[in-house]
Amino acid sequence: MSLKTVVSIVGARPQFIKAAPVSRALAASFREVLIHTGQHYDHGMSEIFFRELEMRPPDFHLGLGGGTHGEQTGKMLIGIERILSSVRPDCVLVYGDTNSTLSGALAAAQNQVPLAHVEAGLRSYNRAMPEEVNRVLTDHISSLLFCPTDAAIENLAREGITRGVHRVGDVMYDALLHNLALARERSTILNTLGLEQGTYALATVHRAANTDDPARMRAILTALRSLGTGVIFPVHPRTRKMIRESGLSLSRNVMMIEPVSHFDALVLQENADCILTDSGGMQKEAYLLGVRCITLREETEWVETVQAGWNKLTGVDAGLIRSAFDTWHPSGERPALYGNGHAAQEICQILSGEFS
Ligand code: UD1
Repeated sequence: MSLKTVVSIVGARPQFIKAAPVSRALAASFREVLIHTGQHYDHGMSEIFFRELEMRPPDFHLGLGGGTHGEQTGKMLIGIERILSSVRPDCVLVYGDTNSTLSGALAAAQNQVPLAHVEAGLRSYNRAMPEEVNRVLTDHISSLLFCPTDAAIENLAREGITRGVHRVGDVMYDALLHNLALARERSTILNTLGLEQGTYALATVHRAANTDDPARMRAILTALRSLGTGVIFPVHPRTRKMIRESGLSLSRNVMMIEPVSHFDALVLQENADCILTDSGGMQKEAYLLGVRCITLREETEWVETVQAGWNKLTGVDAGLIRSAFDTWHPSGERPALYGNGHAAQEICQILSGEFS
């Protein structure tokens, strides 16, 4: 009997991390065809992840990074549709909330290929974020919705989506369990940067709402400057460009470095005194690693990390950021919010039940 075919679509950094455990699980019972849209294309944002995560090279690389949201999404949709019509898969699998996610979802739905969404049901309830639009639209055209949390299931139910919904846990937790020991063994980033455990803060900023608004970016840099500690700041290409163009300056306690590999990111996070970020993935990784997280946004999709007391939403108010950094030291329980580390196998079993 020939194996059923799943087309998986990735394009941006966090999607490589999420897809790796799912690809490993799929290998036993499916033929997987991997499409990389090229949304992230720098070596340090793409190839290095494939190498560290031991992913096989994509079957198709569309090379479609850059451009406006519309240009990116439109070109990806055309490229993915062509591949779907030649591969004729039994199912398309998309991850998260990027433009690659939405274009893959549209290509599948418009060509009557069943669509499965990993990390379904997340909501920030802020439609000004392209990610929120991408995830809402993707959820509404998916036939299988793999949710990481109870909150995600409830969000979908509020929008009338109850069929095909499965709470499987978070594939990023699977990924963390797989990668953390390897990262500790292989990453040399602490030595390279001369860092000691618990003596520095780690900051990342890449959301358009922050990077593309000079007032918000200035407020974030002011806050980082005011922390009485060294700050390691791996800088996304978008953020570097915006800092340069708006003539903002950094202070001596803030060390700007190139984007780091996933293993280096895990080690930098695990050993930080505090993480300051607008990334969704890092809010979860901070929680899972037991490191306090200050989120440089007004809202989050990962509400349970805030409810559990390990994540604080400060927006970009320098006073709030500084006061949280100085006075807030969570130490409470960290319940298992993100499943049992077997989300990828569960996804694979559900797909097998549906398509085999
Ligand atoms: C995208 C996702 C975001 C996700 C993030 C992960 C969307 C709408 N946003 O944001 O949800 O959290 O990825 O990192 O899909 N660039 C480079 N080199 C690269 C990649 C990007 O120079 O390797 C530049 C692009 O040309 C562009 C800017 O960075 O000017 C932004 O890249 P883009 O892919 O549009 O979105 P991200 O901000 O990375």
